[in-house]
Amino acid sequence: EQVPLEMHKVRIVQKLNLPPVEHRLKAITEAGNNTFLLQNKDVFMDMLTDSGVNAMSDQQQAAMLIADDSYAGSATYTRLESKLREIFGMAYFLPAHQGRACENILSQVLVSPGSIVPMNYHFTTTKAHITLNGGVIEELVSDAGLEVVSVHPFKGNMDIARLSAVIEEHGSNKIAFVRMEAGTNLIGGQPFSLENLTNVRRVCDKHDVLLVLDASLLADNLHFIKNREESCKDLSIREITRKMADLCDIIYFSARKLGCARGGGICIRTEELYRRMRGLVPLYEGFLTYGGMSVREMEALTVGLDETMDEDVINQGPQFIGFMVDELQKRGVPVITPAGGLGCHLNVMQFLEHVPQAQYPAGALASALYIASGIRGMERGTLSEQRDPDGNEVLANMELVRLALPRRVFTLSQVKYAIDRISWLHENRHLIGGLVFTEEPEILRFFYGRLKPV
Ligand code: F0G
Repeated sequence: EQVPLEMHKVRIVQKLNLPPVEHRLKAITEAGNNTFLLQNKDVFMDMLTDSGVNAMSDQQQAAMLIADDSYAGSATYTRLESKLREIFGMAYFLPAHQGRACENILSQVLVSPGSIVPMNYHFTTTKAHITLNGGVIEELVSDAGLEVVSVHPFKGNMDIARLSAVIEEHGSNKIAFVRMEAGTNLIGGQPFSLENLTNVRRVCDKHDVLLVLDASLLADNLHFIKNREESCKDLSIREITRKMADLCDIIYFSARKLGCARGGGICIRTEELYRRMRGLVPLYEGFLTYGGMSVREMEALTVGLDETMDEDVINQGPQFIGFMVDELQKRGVPVITPAGGLGCHLNVMQFLEHVPQAQYPAGALASALYIASGIRGMERGTLSEQRDPDGNEVLANMELVRLALPRRVFTLSQVKYAIDRISWLHENRHLIGGLVFTEEPEILRFFYGRLKPV
């Protein structure tokens, strides 16, 4: 049997609760069937996200103790800036409090009414910021990206012919930038290949448009390039990273996923772009040498970025996810394949065939899974979309329940518990019905909207 092998040992633990089923039913009802609104004390395995909840290493903890606390010019900041320069080879860096803050800055500076932003696939906060600034996104993920069951190793690849067509149709001056998302979140943590990024760059060069990389899920994407892309198998993670970075004009990231538990930032190649964005950092984030991060976070991030260059570190998430996906498949549970990064994704269109998309089947399954197991997952489907300007429901391409595997947090026994409960729920799926909003916020409604059974 192929089982994941942990290349670390556990030295600090946190006690968990597994409340009884009656309690869970009460808790999810009070939370409006929205797993975002559950209290962590009521949750057994928190698989909502990998954001800000990955395990930290002893080296990161140690570095946090020697952080240099000063408002301006701290040595901690200098260490972070030079680590980023060493890894990505870009001259300039702007710190921010998290990923969406980077998206705010990028969108305010580069997007204007009528702008088009081609991308492999959107992320919720990215799309919200681009739209807020009057831009329109064009999702150009390759056809394989939207095939739920597939053996394609790089489902996050951009369709190069469509990218050329979109730029030619609108003209390069309308294109704010092209965005590639590593470990493409909303289609199941799926990677793109280095070859595909190289081809995207070629198109950008031809039309003189900027290429921006969202590197929040870079660690997973690096692991998959190393393990799935023949031409990269003899390269080190560091070498692959540099090859990717060399193709981009801007790299931004959420450090809640990449390298740390908080923070983010934008790495920029040219002084001109850096100067255009710089003014927004003190306005929204904090002074230029912290950008809303604490010095402790910046120290942990510096070490975490270095650790991301180690295959034995970054292979842990994908190995556990691969195990979970394989085991669920063996039991006939519909999941996204091939296994990606970030988490295991249940394919709800098939799991709950009997629930129409307008009744938020993925939200319903996330709620039911909590009742059946105490596991908190996240809806990633129609509920996570925004209504169109006329107020019509936008049906998602995929209805998913994401069960994130925060890196190095859960043990194999816990993952086996999750597999067992999900299989049970699948066998009893006829018990689950749809949901309807009782309270629907206008922006990012999935975060704090409330629903009830239809
Ligand atoms: N880009 C990607 C690909 C992300 O996955 C996220 C966050 C962001 C940007 C925004 O970063 O949260 O630091 O502001 N994803 C989290 C998730 C929220 O749960 O998938 P942030």
